[in-house]
Amino acid sequence: MIDGKKVLFSGMQATGNLTLGNYLGALKNWISLSNEYECFYSVVDMHSITVRQDPAELRRRARNLFILYVAAGLDPEKNCIYYQSHCSAHAELAWILNCFTYMGELSRMTQFKDKSAKHADNINAGLFTYPVLMAADILLYQADVVPVGIDQMQHLELTRNLAERFNNLYGDVFTVPEAYIGKVGAKIMSLQDPTKKMSKSDENPNASIYLMDDPDTIMRKCKRAVTDSEGIICYRDEQPGLKNLIDIYSACTGKTPQETVKEFEGKGYGELKPAVGEAVISVLKPLQDEFARLSKDKAYIDSAIKANAEKAMYVSSKTLRKVQKKVGFPERVR
Ligand code: TYM
Repeated sequence: MIDGKKVLFSGMQATGNLTLGNYLGALKNWISLSNEYECFYSVVDMHSITVRQDPAELRRRARNLFILYVAAGLDPEKNCIYYQSHCSAHAELAWILNCFTYMGELSRMTQFKDKSAKHADNINAGLFTYPVLMAADILLYQADVVPVGIDQMQHLELTRNLAERFNNLYGDVFTVPEAYIGKVGAKIMSLQDPTKKMSKSDENPNASIYLMDDPDTIMRKCKRAVTDSEGIICYRDEQPGLKNLIDIYSACTGKTPQETVKEFEGKGYGELKPAVGEAVISVLKPLQDEFARLSKDKAYIDSAIKANAEKAMYVSSKTLRKVQKKVGFPERVR
C-alpha cells in the first residue's frame, strides 16, 4: 500500500516495434487501472540487452516507449513511468533473488526455450535469469497487481513462488502479487498464422499490426488476415483466425465477443475484416497523433524522466534495504 492505495507494477521491453498485442494485452488495461492503483510502469531496457541491441537504436526505442506510455493516457505526474536502468535497485535485488532461484525452475521457462532457439549463437546467462530480474521489478514495489498478457503468466508464477519462498525464510518481506489478465485481448494472435501469438519479432510484417502503422497499412493487413473456408461468423477455437479478429474487434470497441458475433450475424468475413480495420484505426490513430505531439515536447518528457526516476529509486530502496538486512548484509554507516 502507498498512500492508502494498492500498488500496480508493469513493464514492456523497448525492443522491436510494439504491436497491437502489446496494446490490447497490456497498455490498454494499464490505463483503465491507473486511477484505482498507485502505479509503476517501467521501460524495461535492462531486459532488452538479453539479446544483442544496437546502442543508439535501443536508446531511441526506449525513449519512444516512454513517450508512448504517456501518449496512451498515463499521466506521468500521477503514475511513476521510468527507465529500469535508471534505478539500480532492480539489478541489486535481482542478484539476491538469483541466489534463491533454482536452475530447474528457470530451465522450464517457455520464453527462455523460445529465445534460446532463436538466438542460438548468444544463449547468455542474462537470457536465462531474465525472469529473476522481472521478479525483482515487481517485488521491489510491493506490487499487489501486475497487468500482463497471458504469455507472461509463467514468469509471474515464478515471481509469486520467489516471494513466498523468501517470506517463508525471513518473514513478511514481499507482497505476493496477482496477475491481472484482461477479459479480451490477453492473447492476440498472428494475422498470418493464428496458432502463434502476435509478436514484435515476427519476420512476416503482415502477421502483426504495429502501433505506428498508418491507416492504409492497418486496413490492408486486416483484409489479408488468414481465416478459414467455413464462411460463418462464430467464436470458437476451431476457427482461430476468425476468433482472433473477433477478439481484436471486441477489445477495440469494448464489446464482448458474443456481442460482436451478434453484430455480424449473417454477414461474411468480407464485412467483418474492414470493420476490424476501422476499429483498430480508431484506437491507434489518436495514440499516434498524441505520440507525435509529445515527441516534440522535449522539456516535458525530460522532466518526467527525471522526477519519476527519483520516485522509483526512493520507493524501491526501501524494499531493497529491508531485503539486504534480512539476508545479512552489514548496515550502512551514516
Ligand atoms: P513484452 O515487452 O514482451 O510485452 C509487453 C506486454 O505485452 C503483452 N503482450 C501481449 N498481449 C496480448 N497478445 C499478444 N500477442 C502480446 N504480446 C505481448 C505481454 O504479455 C506484456 O504484458 N517480460 C516482459 C516485460 C517485463 C515485465 C516486468 C512485465 C519485465 N519486467 C514486470 C510485467 C512486470 C516482456 O517481455 O513483455
